[in-house]
Amino acid sequence: MMDEKDWELFKQKFKNKASIDLNDYKPAQMQRRISNLMSRYGVRTYVDFFNLLDKDARMYKEFIDYMTINVTEFFRTPEKFSELEAKVLPELLTKSPKLNIWSAGCSVGAEPYSLAMILKDMTPTVKHRILATDLDVEMLAKAKGGVYTNTEFKNISNNRASKYFKQMNGTYIIDDDIKSRIEFKKHNLLLDKFETGFDLILCRNVVIYFTEEAKDGLYRRFLSALKPGGVMFVGGTEAILNFRDIGFVSYLPFFYRKPL
Ligand SMILES: C[S@@+](CC[C@H](N)C(=O)[O-])C[C@H]1O[C@@H](n2cnc3c(N)ncnc32)[C@H](O)[C@@H]1O
Repeated sequence: MMDEKDWELFKQKFKNKASIDLNDYKPAQMQRRISNLMSRYGVRTYVDFFNLLDKDARMYKEFIDYMTINVTEFFRTPEKFSELEAKVLPELLTKSPKLNIWSAGCSVGAEPYSLAMILKDMTPTVKHRILATDLDVEMLAKAKGGVYTNTEFKNISNNRASKYFKQMNGTYIIDDDIKSRIEFKKHNLLLDKFETGFDLILCRNVVIYFTEEAKDGLYRRFLSALKPGGVMFVGGTEAILNFRDIGFVSYLPFFYRKPL
């Protein structure tokens, strides 16, 4: 049986430690994940679980990973990336030749690097700005390292693989010039301030465990962060049903536009 007081205290302590507010996550999924870990570690109360996490850096890390799931790949949902390349980016480029883009929840960097490859092919001499953020500093460190395996690599064309990666001992190392095109930064989407003036924001496969309220608030903040005419690109299962209420207009499936 779940003890409300114990759960409330856990959420409070965890927020102080991790700056993550579990009230923003869907309770059923969150509690199922937490009780799986609790039974694995043999603790009975949420507060005991917190004390365990507080003492043991490895378990703490495991818990954060468990909650945030970092799975990603280059050109994830390739047909959407094709539309991005063929339609969305060319349209945006007619208005701003130097784009300001944000990959929010970038994990190990496959998403912003995919963008950088597309943009280098389209506009080889222009350095656009690509901001890539995540709350998980370990993922950001991996992203900056730029070393990948087959898991992330399956959608890359042979042409881009040979042009933008070096292969070494079964790993793929991203080209330094592509790397230099991304600005990686730690940022919590549910807590930290947003920059403004973006032409394009990608937030894909990040909000799955957020509550409807948290998602709603987040998309409203994304809308304010976009320039008029700017585009919001979401994950392949994350259509924004109330996009009109939020203030977006429809554009293409999984792409929304801020009105001019
Ligand atoms: C499944 S990955 C998605 C990566 C990439 N966008 C993609 O679609 O392949 C989700 C990422 O969101 C990050 N994340 C989860 N909650 C976050 C939050 N509140 N603020 C910032 N990043 C968050 C996780 O750390 C994780 O790296």
